[in-house]
Amino acid sequence: MEAKFITLEGIEGSGKTSSIKSITDLLDSKRITYVVTREPGGSSIGRELRSILLDPKTEISSEVELLLMLADRKDHVEKVILPNLETGNWVISDRFMDSSIAYQGGGRELDKKMIDSFSKNLNLPNPDLTLLFDVPVEISLSRVKARGELDRFEQEKLDFHNRIREAYLGLAEQNVNRIQIIDSSQQIELMLKSVEQIIETLINGL
Ligand code: TMP
Repeated sequence: MEAKFITLEGIEGSGKTSSIKSITDLLDSKRITYVVTREPGGSSIGRELRSILLDPKTEISSEVELLLMLADRKDHVEKVILPNLETGNWVISDRFMDSSIAYQGGGRELDKKMIDSFSKNLNLPNPDLTLLFDVPVEISLSRVKARGELDRFEQEKLDFHNRIREAYLGLAEQNVNRIQIIDSSQQIELMLKSVEQIIETLINGL
C-alpha cells in the first residue's frame, strides 16, 4: 500500500491539532504505520527556526519570515517527509505549503504567485489530502486567548486573521480534489466524525 501524505491546515485555534488523535487512532486500527510532524519545527534545524519565528520579540520583514518558513520546509521534506514516505510510513503534517500562501500571501500580503513559484522551485511533494479546518476568526481567536500567552502570529490583528481565512478558502476553491473543508465551528464530536469519514474514504480507496 502506497504511503499517503496528509496535511492539516487552518487559522489559529481551528481545531486541526485536536483532530490528530482521531486520525492516528484510525490508522492504528488499520495497522497503518505513520509519523506525525509539523511546520515550522519538524526537523532539528526547524525547531530552532520555530522558536525564532514564533517569538513575539523577533523583528523581521515579511520576506525574511517567508524565507525562514521555506528553509524550515525544505529541511523538513529532506529529513522527515520524504524518508518516511519512501519507507512506507504515512506522514501527517500539522501545516505545510498552504500555510505560506495563506499566512505570508494572505496575512502579510506578499505576492502569492511569487510564493507559489518558490515552492515549485524547491521541488516539494504534493500532499495527497489536505484537511482545511475552517472557523470564523472571532471564534478561533477566543479559543486561542483562552489557551494563554500569544505567539508572534496570534498577536496580530483581526484583519490579518481574516485575510488568512479568505486565502485558505481561495486555495480550497482552486484545489477541490486535494483540499477538504472541515467545519470547525460545529461541536467537536461532529467535527472529529467528519475527519474520520474522510480518512476512512482515503484508506478504502487504496
Ligand atoms: P502552530 O503550528 O502552532 O499553528 O504555529 C505555527 C505558526 O506559524 C502559525 O501561526 C502559522 C505560522 N506559519 C506561517 O506563517 N507560515 C508557514 O508557512 C507555516 C508553516 C506556519
